[in-house]
Amino acid sequence: MMKNINIGVIGVGVVGTSVIKILQENKEIISARAGANVVVKKGVIRNLSKARDVNIPLSDNIDEIFKDDEIDIVIELMGGVEEAYEIAKKALQNKKALITANKAMLAYHRYDLQKIAKDIPIGFEASVCGGIPIIKALKDGLGANHILALKGILNGTSNYILTQMIQENQDFNDALSQAQKLGYAEADPSLDINGIDAGHKLLILASLAYGIDAKPQDIIIEGIESINSDDIEFANEFGYSIKLLGIAKKEGNEVELRVHPTMINKNQMIAKVEGVMNGISVIGDRVGETLYYGAGAGGDATASAVISDIIEIIRGKSSLMLGFENSPHTPLSLKSKDSIKSHYYIRLLAIDKPGVLAQIASIMSKNNISISAFLQKESKQKNSAKILFATHVTTEYAIKNTITEIKKLDSILQEPYIIRIEDE
Ligand code: HSE
Repeated sequence: MMKNINIGVIGVGVVGTSVIKILQENKEIISARAGANVVVKKGVIRNLSKARDVNIPLSDNIDEIFKDDEIDIVIELMGGVEEAYEIAKKALQNKKALITANKAMLAYHRYDLQKIAKDIPIGFEASVCGGIPIIKALKDGLGANHILALKGILNGTSNYILTQMIQENQDFNDALSQAQKLGYAEADPSLDINGIDAGHKLLILASLAYGIDAKPQDIIIEGIESINSDDIEFANEFGYSIKLLGIAKKEGNEVELRVHPTMINKNQMIAKVEGVMNGISVIGDRVGETLYYGAGAGGDATASAVISDIIEIIRGKSSLMLGFENSPHTPLSLKSKDSIKSHYYIRLLAIDKPGVLAQIASIMSKNNISISAFLQKESKQKNSAKILFATHVTTEYAIKNTITEIKKLDSILQEPYIIRIEDE
């Protein structure tokens, strides 16, 4: 007879409900793979009076999970950072294996948890890109490689919004409320559109790929809130699509990490990742490019990842959470934001009169920035013009100085806007 493994679920919302249902509906295949019956012994929720579509015992007392010696695995699906961290610690202190989908908490506390856990397993496959097994790919599948670069569409909501804006000419706010209705967005959707959710995920991937312990404030994180139809038209004209990308690149012993809207060649595979889907390209020094595509949000996709962790934990193949059993001899360090290099698109709104373009060009030339493409368009605003540039490769430092100087010109009528261009 197969043994029972008991589980406690903290947070029975969209993902928790899917976990419970899949465990029941796909019971046979899951127990065959795990070699044990998975029993959800208790779910903990804040508000017991709110109706839940699950048939498991529910409680609003979290200690009923921690104090229950029969519960082997705790699944934390409640969200938030510090409170979730305290709960994760408590689970480990009570010697229970932990599974979490909480990327915000992991962005800050993944190394703390790894230290506390020692040999207690922690699964977090669901924290990055929902149903795509990217954590296991980086931790195990690509273990022979130095990861040269990683580029991913890590947030489904923002990809959905951009796809609706580019393909359907839909207004930003309409696309956002549609994404919320479809259940893709975070409880606080600003985290989806300001790039922070994607930033959290990139930091987790960077730990697995490079052993880098960086926090959100250490890296460039920008969102999609300021993209407008001029940017989309410019991108179209020059053969680009606009995606919110999480990018990691290794050069020597340094790694650059950044999340921002990016113009990428329309023919790249990742440019074809549309709607709420996520996609990641990982380049290993030996394997070459590998691609991962799938649903990055939604109950069932995320629950699929949670259950993959349950199976792995039951099988007993635990290893250190972040995939490095020892520190590498030559540890990698985080590249400073200012020294990151890129091509840039710049959008300006300026007074349309002689000499304005010359002033702008002179600032660019002073900062050693060379223009590779240029488009001037009429603006609805009287006597003004939209000026759109693309640059050759330069540094964040040079572009920052250039924008600061351009902003000071009397002829500039609006906050300049930049989008980075990835040409390789
Ligand atoms: N809100 C996230 C997204 C889903 O839109 O991708 C969970 O990470």
